[in-house]
Amino acid sequence: MSEPLRHFIDTQDFSREELLRIIDLIGLLKEADKDGACPKLLTGASLGMIFEEPSTRTRVSFEVAMTKLGGHALYLKPGEIHLGARESTGDTAQVISRMVDVIEARTLKHQTVLDLAAHATVPVINGLTDYNHPTQVMCDLFTMIEHAPPGKTLAELKIVFVGDATNVCSSLIMMCTRMGMHFTHAAPRRYQAPDAWQAIARANIAQSGGALTVTDDVVSAVRDADFIYTDLWWWIGQENEIPDRKAAFMPGYQINDALLARAPSHAKFMHCLPASRGVEVTDAVMDGPRSIIFDQAENRLHAEKGLLVHFVHPRLKTPSP
Ligand code: CP
Repeated sequence: MSEPLRHFIDTQDFSREELLRIIDLIGLLKEADKDGACPKLLTGASLGMIFEEPSTRTRVSFEVAMTKLGGHALYLKPGEIHLGARESTGDTAQVISRMVDVIEARTLKHQTVLDLAAHATVPVINGLTDYNHPTQVMCDLFTMIEHAPPGKTLAELKIVFVGDATNVCSSLIMMCTRMGMHFTHAAPRRYQAPDAWQAIARANIAQSGGALTVTDDVVSAVRDADFIYTDLWWWIGQENEIPDRKAAFMPGYQINDALLARAPSHAKFMHCLPASRGVEVTDAVMDGPRSIIFDQAENRLHAEKGLLVHFVHPRLKTPSP
C-alpha cells in the first residue's frame, strides 16, 4: 500500500481545503444514492466498529454506509471486546488492524482513540469521545451548506450554539472557525467553552478570517443567526449535576418559540440528537418548520460514506472503480 496512513480523530488535523474536498465527496455520494446507484467503492472491505457507549446514528450510519459501498461492518458493542481491560488498547488496535480495513471507535476517553490510532495499521475514525465528535460536524457542515440562505457564502454564515460546552460544541467551534465562519457560544459562564478551545479557535480565525464570540447573552447571540444549534444539557455520568444544570440553563437557554422569535425568520434549528424534548428544546421547535434535525440526522449516513471512501478507498489493494 503506497497511500500514507491517516486517521480522522480531529478536524484540526486537516486543512480547510482537505475538509471541503471530503464535503464535496459527501455531496457526490448523496446524489448517487438518490438514484439508488451508490458506487461499490469499498467492495470486499471490512469496518470494525468499536463502541464503549450506546449509539443510534453513529452505529446505524456507519454500518449502512459500509453496506451501500459494497463492504461489511462488524459491530463491537460496549463490553464485547478486550479494550484496555485484559488486553492493552495498543494490542487490540494491532490485532483488529490485521483483520479489517478501517476502524471506527466511540470511546469514553479521548486518550483511548488516540491510543488506538497510535497502534493501528489501518485508518481509525473517531466516532465520539469525551473531547470531540468530528464525524458529527462533517455532517453538520454539509447540512449547513445544503440549508444556507440563498446567496450567502460559507464565510458569511453565523452559527449560534446555545447550551453546554459538549464534545459536539468543541468540534463545531473548531470546524466553523477553520472554515472562516462566525461562531457564537451562548451559555451561562460556568458552562462556556474552555479557554483552551477558544485559543485553538482564535488560531484558526487568524488563518481563516472567521469570528468567535462567547457570551451569556443568548438573546443578542441569536439576533443575526443563520443556524441555532443545541445539544443535551447533561450526559451519562452527570446525573448528580442535573439540578444545578437545570437551574443554570432553564428557562433562558431553552430553544423555544420565544427565543426563535428573536432570531431572523430564515434561521434554522439544528441538534445532533439524541434530544431531551422539553428540556434543552421544545417539541414545537423540534417538529416545527424551522427544524432541520432529521435532514441533519440523515446526512450522518452520507457523511460516513464520504469519510469511509476518502480514508479507505485509496488504500485498497485492488480498488474498485
Ligand atoms: N449524534 C450522535 O452521535 O448520535 P448517536 O449517539 O445516536 O450516535
